Amino acid sequence: MSKIILTGDRPTGRLHLGHYVGSLKRRVQLQNSGEYDKIFIMIADAQALTDNFDNPDKIRDNIIEVALDYLSVGLDPAKTNMFIQSVVTELTELTFYYANLVTVSRLERNPTVKTEIKMRNFETSIPVGFFTYPISQASDITAFKATTVPVGEDQLPMIEQTREIVRKFNATYNAEVLVEPDALIPENATCSRLPGTDGKAKMSKSLGNCICLSDSEEELNKKVMDMYTDPLHLKVSDPGHLEGNAVFTYLDAFATDDDFAEFLPDYKNLDEMKAHYTSGGLGDMKCKRFLMAVLNKELAPIRARRKEYEKDIPAVYDILRKGTEVARAEAAQTLSEVKAAMRINYFDDEALIQGQQARFNS
Ligand code: TRP
Repeated sequence: MSKIILTGDRPTGRLHLGHYVGSLKRRVQLQNSGEYDKIFIMIADAQALTDNFDNPDKIRDNIIEVALDYLSVGLDPAKTNMFIQSVVTELTELTFYYANLVTVSRLERNPTVKTEIKMRNFETSIPVGFFTYPISQASDITAFKATTVPVGEDQLPMIEQTREIVRKFNATYNAEVLVEPDALIPENATCSRLPGTDGKAKMSKSLGNCICLSDSEEELNKKVMDMYTDPLHLKVSDPGHLEGNAVFTYLDAFATDDDFAEFLPDYKNLDEMKAHYTSGGLGDMKCKRFLMAVLNKELAPIRARRKEYEKDIPAVYDILRKGTEVARAEAAQTLSEVKAAMRINYFDDEALIQGQQARFNS
């Protein structure tokens, strides 16, 4: 069986370090591994509209931001199809048929949707489009017969729901049309859920605690300087705490032994540095300067590539246009198989028309 990747992002803002360690970096490795037959990366504008329907300009502007972020981290249009969700109208059609296979109570049990409803104060009145977006996400995945969906942990309920839809569809229509996907989540828990610079739960644009991939060196340095550490660590000689200390969480996610050799040779590795911090004698400033160096080293090539692509925005739209054409052809093929399995491909089926004639003749 072919190995096919599909994943995507909502274009609600520039992508940040949380996206990078949680998913983007891995996607580039998967792309370059040569192990996958096809790779689709989707800009999920239609899904983003389910809770931004009153602000389409925000989504419109952020499509190009996300595309630039993709290209700048090293996603390569020669190997990876990048496309815009809403242009692939076949996805909407699939969603309409899959909706028959899902109950309201099943959607209500989806833990990610539950949390998101609370976050958006939708408790008393949930827009239907938002409530049903897991069904549309099942269409995104199955339209490409994806076997592998690289995502963050919070997306696991979506993949589970997709698998259920696949099984229900194939069983109901006695077909082997749809493929059950597997999620691929980051190996490292820190990477799966990178906290914000304020040390709070998750890096997120709405909380204003992000470091964006497109931030300049100065912006990044300022954000690291203001980062949450350990409020009890007042003097350098005080013992420091690692729990909830954003600087050390970021170091967990980013610092390598080579970084120590290059920028902070006092320590061989992060364990040694942590030991010194917790016993007292290592100041926050020194830790922050090291983190800046580590992050700026990782981001320098990404920033440079972004600058190049920013010079020719029409060419970036062209990349998306071509990727979307390929994606559409793929989704159309699956949709036609789905409709054939459901016996609703009326005009494609000469035998059907003749059969109906026979019924009326007899
Ligand atoms: N829900 C995903 C997110 O918020 C984005 C997304 C939409 C997606 N469709 C998808 C991810 C299909 C993986 C597969 O990040």
